[in-house]
Amino acid sequence: MKQYVWTILTLGAMFVAAAAWWLAPVGAIFKQPATWQGMAEPGALSISHAHLKNNCAACHTSVTGIETTKCIVCHANNESLLQRQPTAFHSSISSCTECHLEHQGIEHRPTNMSHEALARIGLQQLNEDATDTENRALATHLATWAGGSAPPHPHISIVESTLNCVTCHGNDDHHFKLFGQDCAQCHATEFWTIPEFRHPSATSMDCAQCHQAPPSHYMMHFKMISARVAGKPHARVDQCFQCHQTTSWNDILGAGWYKHH
Ligand code: HEC
Ligand code: HEC
Ligand code: HEC
Ligand code: HEC
Ligand code: HEC
Ligand code: HEC
Ligand code: HEC
Repeated sequence: MKQYVWTILTLGAMFVAAAAWWLAPVGAIFKQPATWQGMAEPGALSISHAHLKNNCAACHTSVTGIETTKCIVCHANNESLLQRQPTAFHSSISSCTECHLEHQGIEHRPTNMSHEALARIGLQQLNEDATDTENRALATHLATWAGGSAPPHPHISIVESTLNCVTCHGNDDHHFKLFGQDCAQCHATEFWTIPEFRHPSATSMDCAQCHQAPPSHYMMHFKMISARVAGKPHARVDQCFQCHQTTSWNDILGAGWYKHH
């Protein structure tokens, strides 16, 4: 069975035979101290889990601590989670608590996305799942490299750069693939905005280098409506600057705000 985590790593070409995720021996990866029993609860459970406050063992196991299988018992069939591109990795992830903290207080949502943790878990799984020597050698190589020198991408950590952003964020591509598939060339993992980015001037004539017109611009609609609204009957589709401002696509040069119905 091909495991999904492979595709989230740039080693997309490598595959591995692995047990289904709910059978994976994952409890051994991140051992917890055996001390939770009898200890005071470190903080209130989140509101979603508050109903388990008298059932510590729903999540905790003596000796091994939090076991992924216990989380999965209750959360295996979350369809929207598994079908949504950025969170589909839940079908094969071997650990939960890196991103889902608990005991942070009742008002605290127990989710804190960490790409760093995601990549580390992925690397760990590569190592554990590698059955043949070739895969194991590659995993070791990758792990060594990930601990290595200069980051190949300026905005993310070396470990994060083992992630293939587009696997999870292809649907977030605001650039219609015009900027390529290597999102991390320009983006970090915290937010998509880039503070130092200054948009080219409205007098630029290069708009089409970075922007793609909507399908309607390649149909009758363009000559019949768009060009008329803008009062530019002879403008070509690729001359965005003839009709558009840089403020908003609905801000039409000379015609003002235009919202079609
Ligand atoms: C919804 C699952 C869940 C329930 C229910 C739960 N815990 Fe936890 N607990 C966690 C998670 C997650 C951690 C953090 C473990 C980590 O850092 O990897 C944790 C950590 C702890 C720790 C810190 C030590 C350790 O193992 O890391 C203690 C002590 C603890 N819990 C006690 C309790 C007690 C007592 C209860 C019952 C009143 C309880 N927990 C119920 C999820 C749960
Ligand atoms: C006994 C069943 C049970 C166990 C065990 C359990 N959960 Fe939950 N969890 C629930 C229920 C019920 C909810 C609230 C309804 C929902 O969102 O499905 C919830 C909600 C959540 C949410 C959404 C919280 C929010 O408000 O965004 C996350 C994330 C989550 N659980 C993760 C975990 C993790 C990680 C573990 C293991 C440490 C775990 N759960 C263990 C039953 C459980
Ligand atoms: C690398 C970080 C990461 C790991 C590891 C991880 N998750 Fe998540 N999880 C997320 C993110 C991000 C979301 C989306 C939260 C949102 O939409 O706000 C999410 C959402 C969820 C939800 C749905 C919450 C909701 O609001 O409906 C559940 C349930 C859940 N995770 C359970 C798990 C379980 C069980 C594991 C371990 C098998 C796990 N997660 C491992 C990051 C992680
Ligand atoms: C395995 C899936 C996965 C991979 C690979 C991945 N991400 Fe994410 N990313 C997520 C999830 C899940 C979230 C949380 C938000 C959500 O649920 O949509 C997120 C959030 C983000 C956000 C913040 C979005 C916001 O509005 O809060 C940015 C920016 C981001 N990722 C960039 C990247 C970059 C850059 C890469 C490549 C280095 C990358 N991601 C790789 C799953 C992934
Ligand atoms: C050549 C550089 C470059 C590449 C490569 C690139 N982007 Fe961007 N992206 C930008 C710039 C610049 C902005 C504008 C940032 C701003 O306004 O702060 C942006 C904006 C975005 C935004 C909207 C931010 C906002 O909230 O307005 C998203 C989402 C986004 N990019 C996703 C992606 C994804 C997904 C990929 C990979 C498939 C990608 N980008 C590749 C340069 C790039
Ligand atoms: C060097 C690349 C580049 C050039 C050239 C460029 N833009 Fe942009 N533009 C971007 C990026 C990146 C964003 C932010 C990402 C996004 O939301 O699409 C953006 C955003 C916009 C937006 C806001 C979109 C929204 O929905 O918020 C408009 C409108 C726009 N540009 C119009 C233009 C026009 C008109 C021209 C030519 C005069 C032009 N751009 C030239 C890169 C460019
Ligand atoms: C001849 C004038 C003209 C040219 C050239 C032109 N547009 Fe437009 N565009 C319009 C007008 C008018 C509208 C609003 C009414 C409509 O949809 O026709 C519009 C709407 C849009 C919208 C919003 C569509 C929506 O559904 O909300 C986008 C995005 C857009 N144009 C992008 C571009 C890009 C990118 C280019 C260049 C590659 C371009 N346009 C070239 C006139 C033009």
